[in-house]
Amino acid sequence: MKSTGGTETAKRKAGENAAEAVSSGMVVGLGTGSTAAHAIRALGRAVDDGVDIVGIPTSFGSRELAIECGIPLRGLDEVDGIDLAIDGADQLLVETGSCIKGGGAAHSREKLIASVAEELHLVVDETKTAARLDHPIPLEVLPDAHTAVSDAVETFGGEATLRRATNKDGPVVTDNGNLVCDVAFGAIENPAELATELSSLPGVVEHGLFVAMATAVSVGSEVGVETTRY
Ligand code: 5RP
Repeated sequence: MKSTGGTETAKRKAGENAAEAVSSGMVVGLGTGSTAAHAIRALGRAVDDGVDIVGIPTSFGSRELAIECGIPLRGLDEVDGIDLAIDGADQLLVETGSCIKGGGAAHSREKLIASVAEELHLVVDETKTAARLDHPIPLEVLPDAHTAVSDAVETFGGEATLRRATNKDGPVVTDNGNLVCDVAFGAIENPAELATELSSLPGVVEHGLFVAMATAVSVGSEVGVETTRY
């Protein structure tokens, strides 16, 4: 798993806080990353205590962890809906719940599961909150499309960098067999407008801007957790 800022205590407080809302009978989207992992572990303990849930993983990594924790899993096409998805974020605007995701290159499936879920509870440590979104936006792109997409985003002010693997030669390859371009735009004045522009680019499978999809966010710190609902 990639390492990100923020302490494990802060991440654990946020992740466990969101997991508290889960009860028997629920179908739960299992997010990706070090903060969502705390929620998955808490759900595994709940399953051990007899809570009857079904998990829908958002990535190979969250599936692996959920199996290790004993959470029964299904594919998205095997359930009628998702009650709650719990997921992390790389940068979060608490005011609106909009965020940038994809640090783990899992944002396409994360967004799909978030869009199906009745509720999306984002869990972050306090280092992820910001007054304005300015983190580079990950784009999952078809392998052949990475240069064309990199050129296209330049026309509306983006600077793309192909994400490189650290323990492999060449680029990061997503769970779906695609590549990731991280696109820096500086401060994003209008996330909804930019999201529409990015979605319209041929070759882009999905981008990591999640505009007002969250129904709740929990921000953990060393001393506690603060939850905002939308
Ligand atoms: C993966 C994600 C993660 O949720 C995001 O990168 C946050 O990860 P972490 O909780 O480890 O900081 O979007 O694609």
